[in-house]
Amino acid sequence: MAIIITIDGWSACGKSTLAKQLAKKLGYLYIDSGAMYRAITLYFLRNHVDWTEAKEVKQALKNVTIEFNFNDKTQQSEIYLNGENVEYVIRDLVIAEKVSDVAAIKEVRKFAVARQQKLGEKKGIVMDGRDIGTTVFPKAELKIFMVADGPVRVERRFKELFEKNPNVTIEEIKTNLEMRDYIDSHREVSPLRKADDAIELDNTHLTEKEQFDFALQLVRKVLKRPE
Ligand code: DC
Repeated sequence: MAIIITIDGWSACGKSTLAKQLAKKLGYLYIDSGAMYRAITLYFLRNHVDWTEAKEVKQALKNVTIEFNFNDKTQQSEIYLNGENVEYVIRDLVIAEKVSDVAAIKEVRKFAVARQQKLGEKKGIVMDGRDIGTTVFPKAELKIFMVADGPVRVERRFKELFEKNPNVTIEEIKTNLEMRDYIDSHREVSPLRKADDAIELDNTHLTEKEQFDFALQLVRKVLKRPE
């Protein structure tokens, strides 16, 4: 039996690390839903779309095609915006500064959620994000909600971004994470919140291996459960 695993939680909690590990172990598809919102933001910025205008957003979305393709070299699925691999450009702080505003737009969410649900039609998928267990797959067999203390998250994200851009500062990262957490959890349409049936995983004091073992145990429990 193939199941759907959702991993939601605050920014920079390690959701994608866990999701990738689980997908690899289970031979499932991994989809980073945040990458979709980031790719849409990139499109809007490049094309000077005024996203405060619903009409303009609707029109712009007609020109957006998002696909995920598996890269044999990196052994990861990577995101493509209108045929271009944007997996790396979308991680930039310039995108991170605008993505929560774009992700709060009703039309954008409708567009992204429809695409996400399509990808999960055959199950056998691990998807991470903010509303996957509440809105995208409310009937998912396993829902994990990840949390970690603020300073730990800032430190982790700083290390990740510093490798690519040594000019980035801790202060910038802290401000960005706090702003995104606030907007993501206070927006009107499917705000970030723990689904009632989600299991909380606080990884503040866990190693990657410990967190993976914990999640794998949850998967095994679900898979043993009679349908
Ligand atoms: O996971 P991430 O940090 O790459 O996500 C980028 C932004 O996209 C995040 O700040 C909020 C938004 N997002 C969302 O609203 N819903 C999702 N399912 C995933 C991400």
